[in-house]
Parts: sequence; structure tokens; C-alpha cells
Amino acid sequence: MLVAGNWKMYKGPGETRDFLAAFRPPDGVEAVICPPFGSLGAAVASGRTIFAQNVHWEDEGAFTGEVSTRILLELGVQGAIVGHSERRQLFGETDETVRLRAEHALEAGLRVIACVGELNEERERGETEDVLRRQVSVLPEHEALVVAYEPVWAIGTGKTATPEQAQEAHALIKSLLDVPVLYGGSVKPENAPELLGQPAVDGALVGGASLDVESFTAICQAAATPS
Ligand code: 13P
Repeated sequence: MLVAGNWKMYKGPGETRDFLAAFRPPDGVEAVICPPFGSLGAAVASGRTIFAQNVHWEDEGAFTGEVSTRILLELGVQGAIVGHSERRQLFGETDETVRLRAEHALEAGLRVIACVGELNEERERGETEDVLRRQVSVLPEHEALVVAYEPVWAIGTGKTATPEQAQEAHALIKSLLDVPVLYGGSVKPENAPELLGQPAVDGALVGGASLDVESFTAICQAAATPS
């Protein structure tokens, strides 16, 4: 099982060092931390597995505000998230840019967590399957690719997909692409055992609850001892 903590725009280098000095993930789970760009160096120095939250598809160039695979690899970063719903919704990310980012990062030797997931309106209109098929269709089959199913209505809202909803979406994604699938969206120590206990759930992508070392460790513990 893989449990990744997406810190979004939280924790500078000092808080990153403090967290990682206290963090002792249990055996039997791969724990990954995804800090903001400015804290990547401090995070890598801990010796833990560190992913970035995004990566560009060109090796270098006039792309203000972006980061390249070369820079991440030089820093010792091992992977990147691409296509997070906040990137799609707030920063104009499309299926095409997600494809470019994922393909280039994988070619460059980074691991990739590619995020997919439907909006609330899409679920209510019965379009979840179509949305997931479309978002997954641009992703390459690759041994270093992991997909994260993050229903947008469950992100940062305290609402979680039911274990049945997660299982159904994960099974669909796995039928399209033979990759591990993480669940993301209000994962907490209380709901982690049930979600991670679903057969098609291969781990978690955790936002808010990954900012606290105790709650993130508890989620890692749930992944190490699936119910
Ligand atoms: P929350 O766990 O805060 O809902 O965030 C989920 C997420 O977006 C992880 O990438």
C-alpha cells in the first residue's frame, strides 16, 4: 500500500523539517510526502520518499512558475502528482496538459500520481463513469504510474465517498488501466480502515489529515494493517 500526503500550499522548510523529524511510518506501507516546491529540499534531506505536487513537460524554457523534471531529479525528488483537481479547477489544467505532464515525468524517470475524479454535478447527472473514462484514457500504462481517485465533492469537505462508491470507481479505473489506485478525499484516521479495506483500494492520497504527524501516521498504520 502507498499512502501519500499532499500538503498543498502548507508548511515551509522549517515546519517540513519538524514534521519529518517526528515522522516514523510503520513497516508494510510506503509513505510519500508531497510538500510545496519551496520545501522540497528540506524534505529530501530527511531521507524519506518525496514527490512534488506538479511538474512541467518541457526540460527547461520560459515557463514562469513551473518546475521541470530535471530540477526535481537534481533535488532528489522521486515523483510528482499531476492533474490534481485544484490544478484542473483553479489553474486551467486540462486532460491534455495532464497527459503531457504525466508522459514526460514518466519518461524522465519520475514516478507519477495522476489524479482523476468527478464533480458533484457530474455524479448527480450520472456521468461519473464517463468522466473517469475520459480522464483515464489520456494516461499511459506505465509501471511507475499510480492513479488517485479523488471525487471533487469529497476534497476538503469532510464528505467521503462510501467504501462502496470508492470500490466501484476504483474497479472501473483498474478495468481501464492496470495500475494501483489510491483513494483521496477527506481521508482521516477514522475512515481510513474501511476505505483501505476495499479490494480495489491500493492506498490513499491524503490532504488535510497529512499535515498532522499523528493523524498521518495513524492513516499509514491503517494501510499497513488492512482490515
Ligand atoms: P483532503 O484530504 O483535505 O480532503 O484533500 C484530499 C486531496 O486533495 C489530496 O490530494
